[in-house]
Amino acid sequence: MREQLQRLQENVTAELLQVKTLEEVNELRVKYLGKKGELTQILRGMGKLSKEERPIIGQLANEVRDFLESKIAEYQQAMKAKEMEQRLLQESIDVTLPGVKSNIGKLHPLHQVIEEIEEIFMGLGYTIEEGPEIELDYYNFEALNIPKDHPAREMQDSFYISPEVVLRTHTSPVQARVMEKMKPQVPVKIIVPGKVFRRDDDATHSPMFHQVEGLVIDKNIRFSDLKGTLLSFARQMFGPEQQIRLRPSFFPFTEPSAEVDISCVICKGAGCRTCKQTGWLEILGSGMVHPRVLSMNGYDPEEVTGFAFGMGVERIAMLKYGIDDMRLLFENDVRFLRQF
Ligand code: DAH
Repeated sequence: MREQLQRLQENVTAELLQVKTLEEVNELRVKYLGKKGELTQILRGMGKLSKEERPIIGQLANEVRDFLESKIAEYQQAMKAKEMEQRLLQESIDVTLPGVKSNIGKLHPLHQVIEEIEEIFMGLGYTIEEGPEIELDYYNFEALNIPKDHPAREMQDSFYISPEVVLRTHTSPVQARVMEKMKPQVPVKIIVPGKVFRRDDDATHSPMFHQVEGLVIDKNIRFSDLKGTLLSFARQMFGPEQQIRLRPSFFPFTEPSAEVDISCVICKGAGCRTCKQTGWLEILGSGMVHPRVLSMNGYDPEEVTGFAFGMGVERIAMLKYGIDDMRLLFENDVRFLRQF
């Protein structure tokens, strides 16, 4: 038995010198040390040994096993290292190949425009407020002095959820919400960007679009403050040569009210198709906050005055980038969106 063990040790040592792969080492291990391996077979015969011989042979068997285990482990390590080295050689990297380009996303052109508007007004000392898109009829209409028979309050023009709840048709309700929250503090100087909803759908109207509302309330706010603010905005947004024009208009929540035009960004006022030969483009509605809106929302119109405005973001984006169909902004075609 002693000889058997010694021969086994010699055989394994000799065979290990021949192996070339990790797989071969593993096979060798199974062949000699596995459950049905040769060493196990030899040890089975131990029962036949005499009492005196058994511990001596047992010890020898353990030594042989430990020796083989560590020898085999050594070869496994060596083979692994060798195979790794070969793989690295085969897979050598060509550093001159062009890299894999990852696509980095960017902001939608509408949000770029919103951010630009925010930057301009923050520069003028405004803070940014937000309000809910699902709005109470009260804030959307009532608190803004919009009468019950106003066309916007018809079911066919607005998305009603219930008689009291509507998808806001403009960002103006946030005026009332902010006044209610801040009353009677002044100054109020906020802009409100956000989504609004109307039952409209064609090349220049979308059922969902974006507005930026503005509201200023303080002592001695005058119409000239409104005009100067909007001129400053127009010049920062569209260029230092910009002119603006105010036309008398009507909104239930302002008095007096004005529609504001900018000189046509395409023809610079000479007259073209975009401005329908007028030289002017309408970009927003505005006015002095109606005294009733002030008092309804907690401010004393004898003490303070204010101005407000609301602009359509899509329209500004279309003018700024020369986009002629609003629907392009909502189709999410990256070939279009990538351009901005
Ligand atoms: N809310 C109006 C609209 O959606 C726009 C508007 C007009 C807002 C005059 C104002 C304003 O704040 O003063 O058509």
